[in-house]
Parts: sequence; structure tokens; C-alpha cells
Amino acid sequence: MSAPNKTGWKPAMNADGEMMAVTATYTGNRALMLDEALIFEIGSTETTGVDLPDAPLPAANRLGGFERRDPIGLPGLSEPETVRHYTRLSRQNYAIDLGLFPLGSCTMKHNPRLNEKVARMPGFADVHPLQPVGTVRGALEVMNELAFWLIELTGMHGVAMSPKAGAHGELCGILCIRAALEARGDARKVVLCPESAHGTNPATAAFAGYQVEDIPATAEGRVDLEALKARLGPDVAAVMITNPNTCGLFERDMKAISDAVHEAGAFVYCDGANFNAIVGRVRPGDLGVDAMHINLHKTFSTPHGGGGPGSGPVVLSEALSPYGPLPFTARTADGVVHLVEEENTGAFDHTQSFGRMTAFHGQMGMFTRALTYILSHGADGLKQVSEDAVLNANYILRSLEDVLHAPFAASGPCMHEAIFGDKGFAAGLSTLDLAKGLIDEGFHPMTMYFPLVVHGAMLVEPTETESKAALDQFIGALRSVAERAIAGDESLKTAPHFAPRRRLDETLAARKPVLAWSDPGMD
Ligand SMILES: Cc1ncc(COP(=O)(O)O)c(C=O)c1O
Repeated sequence: MSAPNKTGWKPAMNADGEMMAVTATYTGNRALMLDEALIFEIGSTETTGVDLPDAPLPAANRLGGFERRDPIGLPGLSEPETVRHYTRLSRQNYAIDLGLFPLGSCTMKHNPRLNEKVARMPGFADVHPLQPVGTVRGALEVMNELAFWLIELTGMHGVAMSPKAGAHGELCGILCIRAALEARGDARKVVLCPESAHGTNPATAAFAGYQVEDIPATAEGRVDLEALKARLGPDVAAVMITNPNTCGLFERDMKAISDAVHEAGAFVYCDGANFNAIVGRVRPGDLGVDAMHINLHKTFSTPHGGGGPGSGPVVLSEALSPYGPLPFTARTADGVVHLVEEENTGAFDHTQSFGRMTAFHGQMGMFTRALTYILSHGADGLKQVSEDAVLNANYILRSLEDVLHAPFAASGPCMHEAIFGDKGFAAGLSTLDLAKGLIDEGFHPMTMYFPLVVHGAMLVEPTETESKAALDQFIGALRSVAERAIAGDESLKTAPHFAPRRRLDETLAARKPVLAWSDPGMD
């Protein structure tokens, strides 16, 4: 008799209850066939993986009222069982170290091992924010040097290193803008965001108490300059623009946009999450940007934050620098970059600072990694980084535009990401079905249904670290699934077929998640 299948995996069935023939995959991959039960199902509360000597005295004598009265209910496993359980679980995850991770906008790129080595050096890994300053001079020097590079690469005046993520950086920039407006007694209420803006932009503006209004896009996917100019007025505090934008296009009118915004007395916030497409080639400061966050994970190869170890320094123009949060780094009149930790000590006074974003200096682990990446490439190497990122994205765009609808392909080359839509798919098949089909090919799906300006959007960002062979394999896989979507291959509707879990009910998973294990015998 076969062992009971505790996880409920079932083969794909058709409406008549027969096992479905699944189309052979292009890559030959069979996704992640390993299956794994929950640790509570593998281990037993009756066993333990450790043999402890008997206590010399009855436990009650020593623990008093703290003695445990009920069983703890945790599963006991041996060390190898535990290691294997978590290793098998980890293999159910897709990771950048396993293969190309095509998420657009989120940018999953290789984390060089050199970065990891440097970040683990005890002088960096073991510092504590409350150590006496005299014992962390080296760490402060690392922050200062990274700040110097960020200021240089963006052509800005100062930088707040403390924000913990891109979205946190957006809030920091908007708070600087508010402080600058308040300082001149100007209570403006509106922030303008393009239709294609990342969701964090309007969310940030609303969180900071502003009314958010849309700016329409042109047919070629860029900000409509004339519509923007028509909306500018004395109530507009700022415009938040992502450049390159979330359609993967460079906002060619950026300088004209900044000029018009400044003329109307407002500020330009640039969402610099996509700086990896232009680093070393364009300095946002030259385009009139007042504030911009940089997602270190996207441009400077630190591990993806996911809200955890993220870091989103914000560079500021000369006009906004006085309002930056402490600690703050900026150029002094002699052009040297200085770290200011207190309001009015150090190289220049910073008494108009709006306050602090975090208690301490920011993410040391990310600072060391980002600086390692910058120094190991140098200015020329960084220029090549952006060129290769753009080249790879264009290779994907041009290799697939004959099979997938590429709405902005006629506008010219894309930047770091290629965007496709679902036009041409057989009735009943969607971007979601294609994405699930891609899992069977052994790839994590691309970003889906974002930006909203493209129907059934698929946003693909290969990054600069992928080889042509890796790109070709991904292109072949995506092409084969796209052809199946166009031909109306019904088996896509039930994909993935080879993953440890079949297609989940996403609504139920979001609305009624089952997050705690309960013993089925107790139900
Ligand atoms: C364009 C854009 N803006 C803002 C963000 C928010 O950044 P974070 O996730 O670090 O908060 C992202 C996320 O990657 C992004 O792609």
C-alpha cells in the first residue's frame, strides 16, 4: 500500500475526471517535483531529537511556578530530519540563484558574492548603532563614501541614507517637499502622479496628507506634457514621476516637465527605482529633479528587500537639502561631502531638518554591499551595467514582439524592461494562465497586470547579469507558452501541472488564509 499523501497533491483532471495530458514543456523542466508535508505532520510530539540527561532534582523544585503544566505541542525531529525538511522547503522556492527571475519593476538581480563577503566582515556585521562613535569610524566612513557616490552619480546636492525602502524614501522626499513649502508659508494640497505610476507613489502622497490626481499618458506610454502643464497651478505641491517609467520608457520630456513644475512653484519628485537603466549615463539632477529615492537592491545589487532588509536613500537638490532628515549628508560650499548627525554641529548647520525617518543611520548591511558593488565596477563599469540591462531588455522585446503584443515597441527601444499585453490570446485564456504555464517551464512568472495602462500587462526585466544563453532559454519558454495561449491550449487553464501545489484559489487565499496548523484529529 502506498504511503498516504498528506499534502493533497492531485494530477490535473479534465471535466470527465480523467488525468489530463499535459503539453510537453520547452525546457524539459518539471518545475519543482519535491513535495513536503508540514513539520507538524513529519515530527511527533511524542519524540525528541535531543537526549537530555535527567535533571538532578525534580524540576518542580527549581522552576517553582514556572514548571510547564501542559505538553508544549511542538514536533520532535532529529537534526537531519530538520535540516532536510527546511532544505526541501527551500527547494520549493524559486530564487535568483536558481535562474532568471523576470519580475519587472521589482528587479531581481544577482547579488555578487563579493558583496556578501564584505558585508560579513566583523567590523561591519557586528557593529551596533549605540556603540560609541569613536569605535565605528570605519562604518561612518563607508556611509559617507556611499553617500558621496550617490550624490555624484545623480548630480544632486545631498542624501538622506536612513530610509529603509523605496516607499519609505518616497515618504522622506515628500516630507522634505512639505517642509520646504511650509517654510515659505505655502500650504499646497495636491500631488500629481502619472497613470502608470507605481502604486507606492499615490499611496505615499495620500499618506502624507495630499490629494492625489492623475496625469494622463500619451499613446506612446509617456507623460502627457500638455495635460500636465494645463493642470499645474498654485495648489500643486509636487509631481511624482518615475523615470524611466513603469512602461519601460525614458521620459524624454523630463527637463521640460521640471521647468514647468518649477515655474508653477512646485517640486519634482522622481521615483528613481529604475535608476539601474540610466546609472552612469544620466544624472537626474541635470534634469531638474528635486528629490529621488534609489532602491539599492535594484541599482546596486543588494538582496531584494521585500520590506525587510531594504534600503532607499533619497538624494535631494540644493533647494530641498536644508529640510532633509537627520542624519544627513551633503556638500559643503567647498564641494566636500559631509555627514551631519546633529542639527547644528559638524560641517554645516541643519536646523531646518524636518526630523528623522529612523532612530539610527540606516541599513549598514546594505550600505556595505552597495558600496562594494559600486567600487568593484567603478564609474565606467556602472555605465556598462545600465547599457547591458537595456540591451538585455531590448533583446527580449525584439525576440518576442512577433508573438506577444508589444504596445510600445513602435515608440523605439525600451529601457530596462520590456512590456507585453494579452492581445491575441484565445478567448478564455489570460495573462494569469500564461504566467502559470511559465511555472511549468521552471521560471518564476514576470510581473503581471502592472502597469494598468496595458491590458493584461506582462512586465519583464532580465537585468544586466543574464547571459545570452539564459535569455534565449527564457525567450524560448515564454514563446512556447505564448503560442499555446494564442492557439487556445486549454491545459494552460489548470497550470501549473508540475509544481508542488496546483493552482490555488487566490481570492480565498487572500481573504481566508489558513495560517495556523491544527491537528486534523482534533477537528
Ligand atoms: C517604480 C517603483 N517605485 C517604488 C518601489 C517601492 O520600493 P520598495 O519596494 O523598496 O518600497 C518599487 C519597488 O520595487 C518600484 O518598482
